[in-house]
Amino acid sequence: MKQIRLVVKQLRDSINEHNYRYHVQANPTISDTEFDVLFKKLQEIERAHPELITRDSPTQRVGAKPLKEFAEVRHDIPMLSLDNGFTDSDVLAFDQRVHDRLAISGEIEYVCEPKLDGLAVSIRYEQGQLVCAATRGDGMSGEDVTENIRTIPTVPLHLRGNFFPAVLEVRGEVYMPKKGFLELNTRAEAKGEKQFVNPRNAAAGSLRQLDSRITASRPLAIFFYGIGVVEGMTLPDTHYETLLFIKELGCLINHEIQVVKGINQCLAYYEKLGQRRITLPYEIDGVVYKVNSFKQQTTLGFVSRAPRWALAHKFPAEEIQTIITDVEFQVGRTGALTPVARLRPVFVGGATISNATLHNMDEVKRKDIHIGDRVLVRRAGDVIPEVVSVITKNRPKNIKAIQLPIHCPVCHAKIEQIKGEAIARCTSGLFCPAQRKEAIKHFASRRAMDIEGLGDKLVDQLVDQHLVTTLADLYSLTFTQLAGLERMAEKSAQNMLDALEKSKTSTFSRFLYSLGIREVGEATAKQLAMHFDHLSDLYKVTEEELQTIPDIGPIVAKHITSFFSDKHNRSVIDKLIASGIVLQKNKKDRQLLPFIGKTFVLTGTLQSLTRLEAKEKLENLGAKVAGSVSNKTHFVVAGEDAGSKLKKAEELNIPILNESAFLAMLSGQY
Ligand code: IVH
Repeated sequence: MKQIRLVVKQLRDSINEHNYRYHVQANPTISDTEFDVLFKKLQEIERAHPELITRDSPTQRVGAKPLKEFAEVRHDIPMLSLDNGFTDSDVLAFDQRVHDRLAISGEIEYVCEPKLDGLAVSIRYEQGQLVCAATRGDGMSGEDVTENIRTIPTVPLHLRGNFFPAVLEVRGEVYMPKKGFLELNTRAEAKGEKQFVNPRNAAAGSLRQLDSRITASRPLAIFFYGIGVVEGMTLPDTHYETLLFIKELGCLINHEIQVVKGINQCLAYYEKLGQRRITLPYEIDGVVYKVNSFKQQTTLGFVSRAPRWALAHKFPAEEIQTIITDVEFQVGRTGALTPVARLRPVFVGGATISNATLHNMDEVKRKDIHIGDRVLVRRAGDVIPEVVSVITKNRPKNIKAIQLPIHCPVCHAKIEQIKGEAIARCTSGLFCPAQRKEAIKHFASRRAMDIEGLGDKLVDQLVDQHLVTTLADLYSLTFTQLAGLERMAEKSAQNMLDALEKSKTSTFSRFLYSLGIREVGEATAKQLAMHFDHLSDLYKVTEEELQTIPDIGPIVAKHITSFFSDKHNRSVIDKLIASGIVLQKNKKDRQLLPFIGKTFVLTGTLQSLTRLEAKEKLENLGAKVAGSVSNKTHFVVAGEDAGSKLKKAEELNIPILNESAFLAMLSGQY
């Protein structure tokens, strides 16, 4: 028996090592047939001595029973996502941010990697044994796909060698190679089964099988690109060395990964890999740049869900041909009509699209788009799909011109297009249900009155059922009315009423912004709130007076006066106030923008914040930040090693703030 145990161990070690040489090193030292002989031998012995079977034996890649559902796995270290960049200037700006935050000059060392188009997983090894594998999920917790991950030939069931951390989570991308994808679809087609739309969907569908035998039959593969939890060992100081370390442990890393110096070499890598993209055996949708030093990564940290030390530089969006079958016009908040093309559905950029925006009639003219035209459409990430251009070669004969409607498609009021403006509008204002809906959505939005739970679907229902005609009606909704709506439970109805009540306490500037006056964004609303003490002041303001306020020009001034001189608008505002809206005194707004009209120049290095942070903080308080010192400069902030700008400020007698004076000013102690 001891003898058999030894043979089994030798066979397993040998199979694992050959697997490693084949998959990870891409340097096999025996033939496939020789490998099969070893594998069969092990299977035979295990069949005769089932008591010798261990979970990490290379024969044990398929779990026996299908699962009922996937368990949830919490990620001890969240699985982050990546910020995207599309242009060279996005990439240069990323590099600049890295420099600013690290407060260093000189070239940064980056690791360039292909951005694999699959799905992220985290695999946990304890004492070298694979114990758990999870999908990314929402980044905080994912699904337990251990059984499925074990079926992927390139995933080690046991880490290689004896030198590994007690606990190690490795992270990587599960994907389906192009060849495997095509073969899978050919088989599906032959059997009359449904085909997968792309390798990524095929990989995701295969990994999310409750029966791991199905997963095992799918050609999945994995590349590892990072780590999560590590216990019991200090890892190298850089990302790249860590990748080499996990490679030694048997985790396959992508062959194209390279360390480079400086952002220009990143761009060169992108260029080269882009050219080779179609020749690669797997799909990629861009490249990823990662700051190599872990110390620098820690300093950089992350914002919301993405690290500041990495950027995904995406390849240009895919463009695909289809046909415009019809064009309809959508009515926006200000009545603007947007032509929307209905398309013969096509799969582009990872989703099927059947609509695309044509922006406005000028664009339609410029691109010479007709109904019935063959066109190229593009969809990049989450942006709205758009028509890029018309294919004029062999143009169909029966194409039809796109006509701006004479009447609003929703309320049938007249459409007006002011000379010289690209945008045509419905003229009935808030009498138009489409505009009313959009106005309410805007009023409720997070940066306006922030009415939690008042989403698009609910607004549509409220307007369609004539429960809400003006903004003011929102505050007279009753429990019975809300609870009577479709898909509205009693609890949700009460939550809605609570949210409405809560929104009644707001600020003057938010309220002005939420009214949806044309061209009045948040910044202008803040300016107005600062300049005027009461709403009633705005009722009688003249265009001339408005134009004395910074950044308000004749057009915005006209929109504001015509909004407040409209009787209907005034009665809605009065009703809103009567329903109990309390607006904090505009002193509060003044506090929000204390530096309005002031110009700052930053020079030298600050200890407690970067130049970019200082600039953002100042701008949030209303200040302008200029690049050079002139008579128009109000303050110069001088950090360490300030040079010529400081000298100039002294010459011009401009107040100079050192770091502590500046911080005191930012915190309001001035
Ligand atoms: S690193 C904190 N490296 O892209 C860094 N991700 O958009 C997080 N992806 O969820 C991931 N190739 O699924 C990294 N070389 C690569 C990648 C990569 C593809 C995916 C991954 C991630 C998503 C983020």
